[in-house]
Amino acid sequence: MKTTYRNILTDKDGAIAIVTLHRPKVLNALSHELMEELVQALTDFDQDEEVRAIVLTGSERAFAAGADIKEMSEETTIGIMLKDQFATWDRIKEIKKPIIAAVSGYALGGGCELMMNCDIIVAAESAQIGQPEINIGVIPGAGGTQRLTRAVGKQKAMEMILTGQPISAREAKEYGLVNKVVPNEIFLEEAMAMAREIAKKSPVATRLAKEAILKVFDTPISEGLLFERKNFYMLFSSEDQKEGMKAFLEKRQPTFSGK
Ligand code: CAA
Repeated sequence: MKTTYRNILTDKDGAIAIVTLHRPKVLNALSHELMEELVQALTDFDQDEEVRAIVLTGSERAFAAGADIKEMSEETTIGIMLKDQFATWDRIKEIKKPIIAAVSGYALGGGCELMMNCDIIVAAESAQIGQPEINIGVIPGAGGTQRLTRAVGKQKAMEMILTGQPISAREAKEYGLVNKVVPNEIFLEEAMAMAREIAKKSPVATRLAKEAILKVFDTPISEGLLFERKNFYMLFSSEDQKEGMKAFLEKRQPTFSGK
């Protein structure tokens, strides 16, 4: 029986499962409900014996423009901590099958973090990749400070996270943040081709190879992620977070007080 989702689309093409983020009006902003659905779909495909690889994509305009600012804007420290919404994200790393991200347009904030949670990234030339949380008075909260730094190195991560400016697909490729940059028209096709190539291999070998590669990150990253998450939650007691998010929603420049 096919599950019906409100924020994502799911499909199968032979051994490849395709999950499409689908909140077009808000550039696929990653609401709590979207993330729950995404993790549910990934988990189901992980258990589906026909599926050997999963392609995760968005629209041409946006892979995802980040966590849902509207949903977060009035959050309190205790509220966001009790909800612990980023715990949902942790379940993505439990997925045993390879996930290939097909990224076009904006991959910002949580969108960039979601992309980095995937195993292989195919980017369209149009992709704009960044961590702009600083512009709304917070910091990355779903792994950005840790995963981006490991991917591109300290200097580039500092630049991206402290200026909030996105980088192009080509620059991301130079820094090893994405695997491939392809013309806009074929980004999904190219990711599907990569998935089909992987689907040809032994599923057991694929699973063990993925597990072994990911082991590399396990030990030191965990403490950093926890530290980052608590700091992220802490920022919800600042005036600048309220002002930053409110200003965004009112389409004006924020005035930060530093408090
Ligand atoms: N959350 C909620 N809504 C969002 C959104 C987000 N992250 N990003 C875009 N939207 C909404 C806009 O509010 C707008 O809605 P309305 O039509 O109802 O006004 C709609 O999507 C289209 O967006 P824009 O009109 O802004 O489109 P644009 O082409 O002018 O700009 C953009 C595109 C540069 C991506 C801009 O939308 C933007 O800066 N978005 C926010 C990016 C951001 O700050 N992301 C980080 C979020 S925090 C986070 O992700 C924390 C974490 O670590 C998990």
